[in-house]
Amino acid sequence: MDKREILLSPIQIGPHTSLNRFFIQPMECSDGDADGNPTDLTYKRYENLFKGEAGVITLEAITITDKNRSRMNQLFIMPENQPALTNFVTKLKQLNPNPIFLFQLTHSGELSNPEFSKRLAVKLLPGFEGDIFTEDEFEKIMADYVLAAKIAYDAGADGIDMKLCHGYLGSQILRPYNTRKWKYGGPWENRRQFAFDLYERIRAAVPDPNFIIGSKLSVWEGFPGGMGTAGPDTPVIDLSEVIDLVKGLEERGAAYFVQSAGSPSITISLTQADRDHPYFAYLHQYFAKVLKDNLKPETVVVGSNYSIFGNGRNKLLAVDREDRSLLTYGAKNIHRGYVDMIALGRQSLADPLLPLKFREGKEDEIDFCTACDNCLELLIQQSPIGCCTYNRFYTEVLKETRKKKGRLVVDHT
Ligand SMILES: Cc1cc2nc3c(=O)[nH]c(=O)nc-3n(C[C@H](O)[C@H](O)[C@H](O)COP(=O)(O)O)c2cc1C
Ligand code: SF4
Repeated sequence: MDKREILLSPIQIGPHTSLNRFFIQPMECSDGDADGNPTDLTYKRYENLFKGEAGVITLEAITITDKNRSRMNQLFIMPENQPALTNFVTKLKQLNPNPIFLFQLTHSGELSNPEFSKRLAVKLLPGFEGDIFTEDEFEKIMADYVLAAKIAYDAGADGIDMKLCHGYLGSQILRPYNTRKWKYGGPWENRRQFAFDLYERIRAAVPDPNFIIGSKLSVWEGFPGGMGTAGPDTPVIDLSEVIDLVKGLEERGAAYFVQSAGSPSITISLTQADRDHPYFAYLHQYFAKVLKDNLKPETVVVGSNYSIFGNGRNKLLAVDREDRSLLTYGAKNIHRGYVDMIALGRQSLADPLLPLKFREGKEDEIDFCTACDNCLELLIQQSPIGCCTYNRFYTEVLKETRKKKGRLVVDHT
């Protein structure tokens, strides 16, 4: 197996060609301005990513409404943001026209932060607080999703990622725990219809076949009633609904899926394997393979949770020691047919230039993520986010944040 040949080979995503197998995860970094537009800090992050030459770059979770959101300085995608987003995409594409640029559309639902927005839930999880939305309120949300997709298209994005993961609104509706009696609640046929309707309405609003639609989804949320479980009150893994979902979305034009797992406000280590629980990364590879085995060969499956592998200095046990490192393990999973592309989350903060350095044969110059999770601390504290290990600016942001708010030990339990 030649990892360079594998990772640097092109792949088709719908009508677009990704020049390599590196897929930049959406990474929300809380540095928008008061109107939800990108700032210089936002631009700098994406400028580096575009210079870094990954085949696909995803714009972080961008909220379809400022009324229900989880981050104070999140990016918004509402009609008022269209000019700023158009300018943002234009500048980045002038820098490097090659990467496929996707926008991840989100609504936070019950994960909205009540300090500055309203929590809206389909059915509150135990211990969660907020308001239950009415069907009329939900129709407005559906219309906002469709409008946001149209804005992304008009702004020059190559496609969208309809977020169906990590406990945000998409997963709240799809999960078996949504037993509420309404249009999109109860039996699976009702719950899945939410995603089917959304895809169909978006396709009708943006009929251009060049515009890619896909989703990142939590294959198993890891708590009773979560996505990928056998019922509303059991944690037992049952992927039949998820498999049916991806097949149905594929029929409705999904060109790719990013496999993920967990719901970070509840099962953080599952969403992003950490130093104490690195082995959760292996569960991700299994989930990715299940998607791959059940989809058409041309539907691209992107695997998550590669940052923990880093340069191979980790606690993972691998039969072949080389398999403990991101590049070798990632290439091997593509070679074995488990995934088509490998996604870089924290690693894209640690070194946005990884694909470029790899292409130029400068592997030894790559800054590998150490999984210290200081960036996660910044996320939870609502500070601007970046890598605190390799980027001095964010080391200072972390120091300032701790001075103001105290040190937060991320609870990985
Ligand atoms: C600071 C931070 C921001 C994130 N923002 C998003 C986001 O906007 N959308 C999303 O789907 N996942 C988000 N995630 C999760 C990552 O995209 C990814 O799924 C997770 O970190 C596992 O990948 P990794 O091991 O490569 O980091 C975020 C994670 C971190 C640490
Ligand atoms: S702060 Fe730590 S976990 Fe986050 S990207 Fe940097 S090295 Fe990785």
